[in-house]
Amino acid sequence: MTGTMKQVVLAAYAKGNPRPSDFRVEEAPIPQAGEGEILLRTLWLALDPLIRLALDETRISGATHQQIGEPMFGPTVSQVIESNHPDYKVGDIVEGRTGWREYAVVAPDQSDYRGPPRIVDPALAPVQTALGALGMPGQTAHSGMIDILKIKAGDTVAISAAAGMVGSLAGQIARMHGARVVGIAGGPDKCQALLSMGFDAAADYKAADFSAQLKAAAPEGLDAYFDNTGGDVTLEVFKHLKRGARMAMCGYIAYYGVGMEGPGPDHLPALYRTIMATGLEIKGFAGFMAGPKAIEDIARWAKEGKLTFPEHVVEGLDAAPEAFSSVFSGNSFVGKLLVKVSEPT
Ligand SMILES: NC(=O)c1ccc[n+]([C@@H]2O[C@H](COP(=O)([O-])OP(=O)(O)OC[C@H]3O[C@@H](n4cnc5c(N)ncnc54)[C@H](OP(=O)(O)O)[C@@H]3O)[C@@H](O)[C@H]2O)c1
Repeated sequence: MTGTMKQVVLAAYAKGNPRPSDFRVEEAPIPQAGEGEILLRTLWLALDPLIRLALDETRISGATHQQIGEPMFGPTVSQVIESNHPDYKVGDIVEGRTGWREYAVVAPDQSDYRGPPRIVDPALAPVQTALGALGMPGQTAHSGMIDILKIKAGDTVAISAAAGMVGSLAGQIARMHGARVVGIAGGPDKCQALLSMGFDAAADYKAADFSAQLKAAAPEGLDAYFDNTGGDVTLEVFKHLKRGARMAMCGYIAYYGVGMEGPGPDHLPALYRTIMATGLEIKGFAGFMAGPKAIEDIARWAKEGKLTFPEHVVEGLDAAPEAFSSVFSGNSFVGKLLVKVSEPT
């Protein structure tokens, strides 16, 4: 296939929260698939918060590092357009990390530690759920709630960024396991959406009475905390933990733009005091650990009507820079943020 395609490149390293002007939309030649390679056309792109960790000028240890002028990396669902590899046929739908561009060439036998593109079964669920509930974020919610927090009936658990993809699923999974679930989100509309999803209570961290809302939601205190944010939200949650509480450290979006030290003040003393005073157990984790079992569970629970996974879709790659920036600077959507790049054939 010949011709040109659209792609989004990094124009400037992000300082603090990413801004739309940190990115540039440009035209590039459609890449050609060589021996052992497949040509993919992007159908869906996920704007996951973790991408921000690649956008600092100085590489943060362990994080992918994005180069200026290169197409943005990121998780996608694509269709195989040409195949020179025996494991993939034209028309297959795959999930991978091919980035913010309309076409990409992949050599499945030379994949990084994440492995070759995963073939997605369109009969299981809409294919874009491979980027959300039936993909890495779903595994994250599953392993965080079940393997890390070991959630059980009688627990009261709080979840930050609860209206996001991971948080909304984690809350529903906790509810299914008999816990009382308190979602924390920004604004009354998001809090209302959490209650509609079956959360027992919701607290608006942007409200002046956030602390009182948390107290009302968990009058006896919290047994567990699924943390997606760090920052001021977590400092407030610390005041509501029961002795011996467990905390799953899933994400720290409030600190993604502040480098390794941040602008201060230094909250480490508060963290130390909380750990000592409450006997808090904290475990950080990455979502890959739950594996295919998590995806099977989530697909089954969805079929049984026990879970919903809302999504917010923006159209076309041109919309990606602004949508991605809104993840960090305020937005009104609930669930998975996706860019619809093209239709399958
Ligand atoms: N451990 C892992 O393997 C793993 C895997 C996937 C994701 N994660 C992490 O899990 C977290 C949630 O991911 P996701 O995919 O669910 O994200 P998401 O759907 O994009 O939701 C992110 C939400 O976080 C809230 N937020 C942004 N900045 C905030 C701040 N400073 N303080 C409080 N809330 C803030 C915003 O909602 P409001 O409007 O409510 O502020 C935003 O919509 C992220 O930190 C992500 O990096 C970890």
